[in-house]
Amino acid sequence: MANSDPVRVGILFSTTGVISTIEKSQLMGTLFAIEEINESGGINGREIEPIHYDPQSSPGLYRVLAERLILKDKINVIFGCYKSSTRKAVIPIIEKWNRLLFYPTLYEGFECSSNIIYTGAAPNQNSVPLAEFMMANYGARVYMVGSDYIYPYESNRIMTDLVLQRPGGEKVAERYVALDASEADYKDIVADIKNCQPDFIFSTVVGNSTSCFYRAYAEAGLNSREMPIASLTTLEAELAQMGADVGQGHISSAPYFQSIDSPANTACLSSFRKRFGSDFAVNAGWEAAYFQVHLFANAMRLSESDAIDQLMPNLLGQEYEAPQGRIKVDPSNHHTCLYPRIGIANSEGQFTIVRQAMRAVHPDPYLVTHSLGDWTKALNTVI
Ligand code: ACM
Repeated sequence: MANSDPVRVGILFSTTGVISTIEKSQLMGTLFAIEEINESGGINGREIEPIHYDPQSSPGLYRVLAERLILKDKINVIFGCYKSSTRKAVIPIIEKWNRLLFYPTLYEGFECSSNIIYTGAAPNQNSVPLAEFMMANYGARVYMVGSDYIYPYESNRIMTDLVLQRPGGEKVAERYVALDASEADYKDIVADIKNCQPDFIFSTVVGNSTSCFYRAYAEAGLNSREMPIASLTTLEAELAQMGADVGQGHISSAPYFQSIDSPANTACLSSFRKRFGSDFAVNAGWEAAYFQVHLFANAMRLSESDAIDQLMPNLLGQEYEAPQGRIKVDPSNHHTCLYPRIGIANSEGQFTIVRQAMRAVHPDPYLVTHSLGDWTKALNTVI
């Protein structure tokens, strides 16, 4: 008789703590995909049953809860993690027990675990396009502000490398704040920015503190017309938190923006809103969290098993019609072919897309070919 038991999967996204706003949206993307799959017959008739724990934004708890999912709940597949420090905390556990993690977040690259499918952007799919765009339009003197952990350190290293390729390129400063930094904690930095007058700011601030930085920036009289903040981590969720007026004119790079004007994205958003309402600011982390569950379900329909060794051959090379466009898991490095885009925050708290790739760009997590010119070959300038 066919197996009709539910397929239990683990979910590790925080609903409390410093990273909760963005991870709640990733949780919603995950639950949305699970609902869609279950409503259309599950995986060969088997429902997906999510087991979600709240790791409270703490890397140590991600590690503990990943092991609990594996050992106590007998889970083979986990969806989760925003911050790189939490992914790094989980890796030894999933590698030790040979389980699979789907990671739906942009990150700093320079990693390739056989136990992970990476569905967020690698640096050649967001840092390189952003550097190219900012230097072409504003100049090459950059002031870096980031949260104090691995993703900002590494992402700033990459941005420095890109900026210094340009004549006149200069890292004006590199400053870090605590993950729970308040508006007052940015006062000195903002005063220094005013004094140094860089061409643009590169923000690797993440999570709920992002709104504090942008507010402190606006309150000091600095504005996006003269000195925009460029970021990979300030997306629609963060704009909603800071208010559209505060974010307006600042620039982000991501493979997905809510404002993508395509039938696939419009249909997906409308279906999501019908089920979950309009409270969640859909963003690139949400979209990757959504489509990676479909990648998993499609792979398991073929393998009939959620054991990593049986799933993986059906995941590597798999293509999927995602809201951003047709994506593909690169079989050589477990990352995903995605569509780099540049957006400028507008008065509605959305991004006006000003550049987008005409075809999916292969992930290059080790930046083997990271000359600035590579990306523009795939570019379509929208305005
Ligand atoms: C990140 O920590 N990967 C944003």
